[in-house]
Amino acid sequence: MGVKIAGLGKAVPQMVLSNEKLSERVDTSDEWIRSRTGIENRCIAVTETTEQLATSAALEAISAAGIEAHNIELVIVATVSPDTTMPSTACLVARNIGADRATCFDITAACSGFVFASEVAISMMNQGGYQNALVIGAEVLSKMLDWEDRGTCVLFADGAGAVLYTKSEENQILAIETGSNPKGADQITLPAGVGNHTFYQVEERKQTIQMSGRDVYVFATTKVPESIRKVLEKAQLTPEEIAVYILHQANSRIMDNVAQKLGVPKEHFFKNLSHYGNTSAASIPMALYDAKALLKSGDKIILSGFGAGLTWGTMLLEW
Ligand code: ACO
Repeated sequence: MGVKIAGLGKAVPQMVLSNEKLSERVDTSDEWIRSRTGIENRCIAVTETTEQLATSAALEAISAAGIEAHNIELVIVATVSPDTTMPSTACLVARNIGADRATCFDITAACSGFVFASEVAISMMNQGGYQNALVIGAEVLSKMLDWEDRGTCVLFADGAGAVLYTKSEENQILAIETGSNPKGADQITLPAGVGNHTFYQVEERKQTIQMSGRDVYVFATTKVPESIRKVLEKAQLTPEEIAVYILHQANSRIMDNVAQKLGVPKEHFFKNLSHYGNTSAASIPMALYDAKALLKSGDKIILSGFGAGLTWGTMLLEW
């Protein structure tokens, strides 16, 4: 027995914010954002919540799979922008979709979150007898941004992607590797909220994303090719044998650089960040959803995430 993908789902907020519109608020330009990142538009939540986006993506994945919510035994949400720390977003999604038998929890691994959550779900399916597992990446990062910091507010955005994994005779998940380098913990940060407190004397920090962009760029362009090579070695494949690379959609230049390091044409790297920006844990399942029309049976696909922690994770799939 193995694990395969039975359904995919995606949800984004209604409001589209273009580079031009953003340039009216902050000292930046369409030309700068486009040339440095590849981003043109992003979807920004006005009324939508992380729970709602995660639920919409989940409902679409379940419907695509034709599986009753009651038969989903595991719901994991990867997010750094939940609406509530308790309960987990996974519990709220399970309640909304009627997954009344599921074990539910959230995972925080920033932009690697979807791959980390998939590794946990697949291990639990292989070892713990879970038949159907829903893994969702969902973010409303716009509420965690300093909209005056042009170094971050032009990059991050909102959305959700869901994958329904099911146990099957055919195995689609050929290899996974994940890792962390806590020495880079200060390179991307988002302080947790502090409520009203009487005794606690720790200095309060602004609850917004801070990032050392250049350091993260160097980390991503070094670690991602290494991680992909590790996974390919496990499966005894070469970079040329991969039909489509789906990387975390942070920056088009990072993807081009990774393509060059692996010695494969950059056209093999799927990109949808021009529409959605960097949606952290949601970006890989959203990109997989958008790429699915291009995928043929038997194609080998790499999914690779990297981000705060520092963390990274790569999965090899056979479509
Ligand atoms: N508009 C105009 N100018 C800007 C903007 C902006 N939005 N942002 C920065 N600049 C300016 C800077 O002030 C700087 O000006 P200076 O030279 O006068 O000081 C100049 O542009 C260059 O700035 P850099 O930061 O060096 O620009 P860089 O080319 O490195 O691009 C970027 C910045 C896009 C952030 C890039 O470093 C990057 O993509 N890094 C990786 C980010 C990433 O991948 N994050 C993923 C993980 S996120 C997570 O885990 C949640």
